[in-house]
Amino acid sequence: MIPVFRPAVGDEELAAIKECLDTGWIGLGPKTAEFEKTFGQFIGVEYVVGMNSCSSALDMALKVLDITGGEVITPSLTFVSTNHAILYNNATPVFADVQPDTLNIDPDDVRHKITPRTRAIMVVHYAGHPCEMDALVDIAREHNLKLIEDCAHAAGSTYHGQPVGTFGDAGCFSFHAVKNVTMGEGGALVVKHKDEYDRAMRLRWCGISKSTWERARGKSYSWQYDVDELGYKYHLSDIAAAIGLVQLRKAEYHNQARRRIWEAYNTAFADLPADLPVVYDDVTTTYLIYVLKTDRRDDLMDFLRERGIGTSVHYYPNHLFKLYRDYPADVPVTEAVWQRLITLPIYPLLTSDQLETVIDNVRAFYRGG
Ligand SMILES: Cc1ncc(COP(=O)(O)O)c(C=O)c1O
Repeated sequence: MIPVFRPAVGDEELAAIKECLDTGWIGLGPKTAEFEKTFGQFIGVEYVVGMNSCSSALDMALKVLDITGGEVITPSLTFVSTNHAILYNNATPVFADVQPDTLNIDPDDVRHKITPRTRAIMVVHYAGHPCEMDALVDIAREHNLKLIEDCAHAAGSTYHGQPVGTFGDAGCFSFHAVKNVTMGEGGALVVKHKDEYDRAMRLRWCGISKSTWERARGKSYSWQYDVDELGYKYHLSDIAAAIGLVQLRKAEYHNQARRRIWEAYNTAFADLPADLPVVYDDVTTTYLIYVLKTDRRDDLMDFLRERGIGTSVHYYPNHLFKLYRDYPADVPVTEAVWQRLITLPIYPLLTSDQLETVIDNVRAFYRGG
């Protein structure tokens, strides 16, 4: 079986885990702080909060930006965490459509969906390809809205030379098992202001004023702390951070490995009756997922599964889930396009033989088997 995803981890990550275990400090501690600093350098920001997932980073972003109600304009074509964060904060998701080529939120439709109750715009850099940030930043400024970037696919992607996650009021990253920078489970929240950072640092650790690590570093272990706001158990751990530090060193190399596969697919499939993924000028992407659009999606999935090739669909539109059915969703492009989406295997550990097998089988399908 050729899986649709496979994390690119190996001996260096194992060594980093061992080193962390040997120190005896495996929870929230110095490795987390080191990861936060290194990730901050990676995307050029000062305030990074290590989280246990992007899901918790998204929730925390809304909390520290004080979005506690009102409407948030958001895509439906995303992983549910993007929109769950809006519900956690008692706000109403108002779904905006996506652009048919990149599958990123359409700035024109965002403009269209603004009402007096709108508080924020949530954008997802789908597959790692940056959204149209010039337009989105302008809209947010014009209407005095918060802008939150879901960068779960996009650690290291740039738009006009600037890393994503640094345009909006908050950037949320995922280091989940199948992301381009992985730690198994992990995430990061990036914010612009010290007060938001301080609050997120407290809230991610139950609202406690000082972390155990900070308390342990004092002359004698000081057990005293205060809690002035209800917090969460959302923090990153040192074992995960140790893996993440190794992954950050390899991020560019891994992105380039995925780029080569992406280009091989685009070349091999150019003459097929399917729409190929695009990369705009003046952006860089992580090539996290390779998504073909084809009218015969379900047949192609079955054909590849029977031949041992895993595929997936990113995503089933959120507004079609029972939980989201009552929220406003006038999104014709999303409704048409999702039925045509198929994700093919793209990861650094995909061998040339496996790549050839995928290409040969996709081509065989269109030749009629
Ligand atoms: C677009 C998007 N947002 C958010 C998430 C949630 O990330 P995590 O698994 O780190 O919570 C994911 C994860 O797959 C995602 O793809």
